[in-house]
Amino acid sequence: MTHTHVAGSIHADSTARAPSWLSIPSDVNTLLPSLWSAGVHKDTTGVLSVAGLTVIEIAKQVGTPAYVVDEADLRARARTFASAFGGWEVYYAAKSFLCTTVARWVSEEGLGVDVCSGGELAVVQRAGIDLRRVGLHGNNKSVEELRQALAAGVGRIIVDSFDEIARLGALAEELQIRPRVMVRATTGVEAHTHEYIATAHEDQKFGFSIADGTALAALLSCHQHSWLELIGIHSHIGSQIFDAEGFEVAARRTLRLHADFAVQTGVQLGELDLGGGFGIAYTSADTPATPAVLAQALREIIANECSALGISVPHVSIEPGRAISGPSTFALYRVGTVKPVALDGGASRLYVAVDGGMSDNIRTALYGAAYSATLASRRSTAPPVLARVVGKHCEGGDILVRDEFLPADIAAGDLLAVPGSGAYSRSMASNYNYVPRPPVIAVRDGQIKTLIRRETIEDLLALDAG
Ligand SMILES: Cc1ncc(COP(=O)(O)O)c(C=O)c1O
Repeated sequence: MTHTHVAGSIHADSTARAPSWLSIPSDVNTLLPSLWSAGVHKDTTGVLSVAGLTVIEIAKQVGTPAYVVDEADLRARARTFASAFGGWEVYYAAKSFLCTTVARWVSEEGLGVDVCSGGELAVVQRAGIDLRRVGLHGNNKSVEELRQALAAGVGRIIVDSFDEIARLGALAEELQIRPRVMVRATTGVEAHTHEYIATAHEDQKFGFSIADGTALAALLSCHQHSWLELIGIHSHIGSQIFDAEGFEVAARRTLRLHADFAVQTGVQLGELDLGGGFGIAYTSADTPATPAVLAQALREIIANECSALGISVPHVSIEPGRAISGPSTFALYRVGTVKPVALDGGASRLYVAVDGGMSDNIRTALYGAAYSATLASRRSTAPPVLARVVGKHCEGGDILVRDEFLPADIAAGDLLAVPGSGAYSRSMASNYNYVPRPPVIAVRDGQIKTLIRRETIEDLLALDAG
């Protein structure tokens, strides 16, 4: 049976289908500070600005869509991790967003960088940062990528399979370079997140299982190889982790593995990496713990566990990505069409289509990520209505912000800003529908600096061999 419904969206209930976590704002113009970088404000006319520059000026200078980075905020987040985890090593996870300038910024703020492909490694090589403070990840590094890493002199390579241990060992001997290696262990911890971004449960591609003994076997294999310098154990339990609980279990299991290894070999491994995954607020429902709170909890857990196991406390490192790059950046779009859609039961939803979409942020379409949005170019006195921000791609799932209250008078030509767009947006962008990828620009003291220029149709056509 098909349902027909006479659309009467102006009068329909435009709030009824909001998810339970999303409350109707008392003022639809207000920003929730936890979602935005420190330099973002709205003036009395409702115009959003960052680091002293309005979005109207930004759109005039660089067009839309664009990723807009608050440089001071990104640097401050890197610094906050460095100081909260002082004495430990903090590696910025480049996969969340990477360009040469950001590699230099985080390096200037005292961080190392974690890369996971030859391409990411090439960027940090070009950035000219200290490669001894760079780690290479990946579950299927090619011989070329391992060769590149050895020649570059990266500080550590995190091995992920027995194939790789053999491959790296042979290459190290050939090049007469003895790399520092860590073994990626699967701890069996289920980070409470989407299946695709939870990485330490057993049934997935990363790491060596602690539970079935392969992690210990991998450690022994590296230890026995004369061309590999085994330095420690690595674990990464997933992303969008809001408290210390998951890290606690992972730390306990990896430290037990340290102890087992020490019993077998008489050698205490010097290093432990607890990976990244520090969560951020994308919506009002997200309340992640601060780096300071997590740091204190992790220090206590590790100290207690090492003392219980009778091993010395290893040198610990972490790899936050999203928590540094994500909240520093918003995506700026121009609204192109607005369409009220009647839902069953008298409810309605306003579809707001912008000039970007799943090609510049795949996360909502890929794993149902939730985002927020605000009208950025003016103040509105219209009532809030339940809206869905969609893109311009030929795909029904081309959704950027699934649920948000926006003013009922939002219209073509308005600017819309989506916070938390610095992580896994540009770095996962595609050219679906031959849509060129937006630029990444940074604002500081009212000035724009282009980090990555806008892609052009000519860039894309240049790849077509004819
Ligand atoms: C090994 C490793 N380290 C660090 C990270 C960074 O995670 P996040 O950006 O959530 O902090 C990831 C993300 O996938 C990862 O796989």
